[in-house]
Amino acid sequence: MTDNPILMMEGIKKSFIVEGHKIDVLKGVDFKLQAGEKVSLTGKSGAGKSTLLNIIATLEKPDSGTMLIDNTDPLKLKDFKLSKLRNRKIGIVFQFHHLLPEFTAIENVAIPLMVFKGKNESFERAAFILEKVGLADRMNHKPAELSGGEQQRVAIARALSTEPSILLMDEPTGNLDNETGKMIIELILSVAEERSLTTLFVSHNIEFAKEMGRVVELNDGVIVL
Ligand SMILES: Nc1ncnc2c1ncn2[C@@H]1O[C@H](COP(=O)(O)OP(=O)(O)OP(=O)(O)O)[C@@H](O)[C@H]1O
Ligand SMILES: [Mg+2]
Repeated sequence: MTDNPILMMEGIKKSFIVEGHKIDVLKGVDFKLQAGEKVSLTGKSGAGKSTLLNIIATLEKPDSGTMLIDNTDPLKLKDFKLSKLRNRKIGIVFQFHHLLPEFTAIENVAIPLMVFKGKNESFERAAFILEKVGLADRMNHKPAELSGGEQQRVAIARALSTEPSILLMDEPTGNLDNETGKMIIELILSVAEERSLTTLFVSHNIEFAKEMGRVVELNDGVIVL
């Protein structure tokens, strides 16, 4: 593969202080994602996978280290420019999906689009992508009126709708039965393939992980493999 990294991280460290004790979670992570690459991130519970994803998503700052997203250093950006970068470049599906409970499925998908598109166009796009994930007849349901798998599909539709450069997924199939999980993985893979999306995917499930392509492991605060 040619060297065209969309993400570069070097020496990323992150600790948390809990009740006066310092926990070193990331101890110097070096990691590169090439444009269009699909990578799974594995590692024990508590290894720091979600922490690393939050740092890549620019939702959390590392204590030290350097990173570049599409040749921009997010650590040097002020709030406004940082949210713009996040909105344009990053799509994230959280481990525990963060849908807005008071809004319907279509509103949840359309809201991030409205940051840079008109209302009608945003709703049209949201409807199109919800159809793609098989939710054409659930668009006007609120999260509480959807099953876990349906909620996760709304979260995936939302993450894909802005056409991000990097799609981050934190165990998107964690709480789902096997069949729904498989369906969702296939969905993500087909969309990722179609758009040559760079995808970083956290999974405990090594079978799913292998299907994704390159597998890396977070172990004792660093990336191995
Ligand atoms: N905001 C926080 N404050 C204090 N400690 C935290 C915080 N976030 C994470 N940690 C700690 O950092 C460690 C790594 O957490 P993280 O959620 O990144 O693990 P993970 O690899 O995603 O685990 P899992 O597979 O269970 O989701 C854990 O020990 C956790 O308790
Ligand atoms: Mg996690």
